[in-house]
Amino acid sequence: MRNLLITGGAGFIGANFVHHMLERYTDYQIVVFDKLTYAGRRENLARWEEDPRFTFVQGDICDMAAVRAAVKAHAIDTIVNFAAETHVDRSILAPDAVITTNVNGTWTLLEVARSMQLERFHQISTDEVYGAIPAPQRSREGDPLEPRSPYSASKAGAEHLVYAYFITYGLPVTVTRGSNNIGPFHYPEKAVPLFTTNALDNQPLPVYGDGLQVRDYQFVRDHCEAIDLVLQKGQLGEIYNVGTEVETANIDMAHKILDILDKPYSLITHVADRAGHDRRYALDCSKLRALGWRSRHTFDAALEQTVRWFVEHEAWWRPIKSGEYLEYYKRQYHDRT
Ligand code: NAD
Ligand code: DAU
Repeated sequence: MRNLLITGGAGFIGANFVHHMLERYTDYQIVVFDKLTYAGRRENLARWEEDPRFTFVQGDICDMAAVRAAVKAHAIDTIVNFAAETHVDRSILAPDAVITTNVNGTWTLLEVARSMQLERFHQISTDEVYGAIPAPQRSREGDPLEPRSPYSASKAGAEHLVYAYFITYGLPVTVTRGSNNIGPFHYPEKAVPLFTTNALDNQPLPVYGDGLQVRDYQFVRDHCEAIDLVLQKGQLGEIYNVGTEVETANIDMAHKILDILDKPYSLITHVADRAGHDRRYALDCSKLRALGWRSRHTFDAALEQTVRWFVEHEAWWRPIKSGEYLEYYKRQYHDRT
């Protein structure tokens, strides 16, 4: 593994993964292949633009000819697929994009990987494929998949294709299922950056329903380290959960953000719940730990670092919260309040 195609590398986790890999490995070539949708930001990768180990290609993972050309031109041996439509709320408003990119796009990449005999295809998946998990149960990799939103169903569909290519064609694949990430470059439509940037502007924090839904919020760089570890040491055909195993209710997360920013709890506004909102996700990560992985950040440290990043990088998020973002915000929140 030396020449990696990082699809979706201009997005939140993809960009953090590019930073991680270029910082850690001096002899890897990293090619980011990204469509630059509303969520893809070239500026997330600005620090590498002059680095000879880094190349950016704008393209759609559903465009087989473009993917094939990039793989050939850069002698790619490994694809790490981050590219996806990732927002559950947008997938409820308009499901077509998640089906196209997350299912068809993943299939396109698999076809290229198979026909060009790549060394490895790694799929970035999500804890959402398990569906809502009643306490005190924790999801293990062999558990049944019960996705309940268009987004999570599309990610489960993609995973099934990945496994089918492993079994049918012997394509060397691995999969990671991550819990909620937080950290630098998080697009401010997702709860933590949305609540943080709204609080900075003294705007309401729209908490869905009673706010007692449980998530496992992990620092994005911890997730990136885990993906790297699975690329190096993971067994082919295997799936690895990635999370902290610490449970946080959304309302507690909102309170902590307000505490860090010294803002009043009165900014919290309970709004109509997300349709089909999964009440709880909880992973068992012992399989990953057996590879030697430990999460480096506690939830409090991860949240503090994330909120501080947004305080210090207003020039990054302020321009995003305009134009298409405001139209989406109106569609998503206007009738909820
Ligand atoms: P993001 O929305 O921030 O970024 C997605 C990136 O994919 C963007 O750069 C976008 O331009 C690109 N993209 C979208 N459609 C594309 C297409 N058709 N062709 C090429 N590029 C395309 O997403 P993220 O939060 O960084 O998530 C990355 C991956 O991790 C996704 O596969 C997601 O399902 C998975 N995941 C995310 C989380 C999380 O908490 N954010 C947790 C677990 C798993
Ligand atoms: O669990 C992994 C998943 O985490 C990833 O697969 C997804 O790509 C990623 O977007 C994320 O999905 P969530 O739906 O959990 O993330 P989001 O930040 O949108 O919401 C986190 C929680 O906060 C969830 O319970 C819904 C709630 N929420 C969200 C928003 C946007 C609110 O209460 N209010 C909001 O305005």
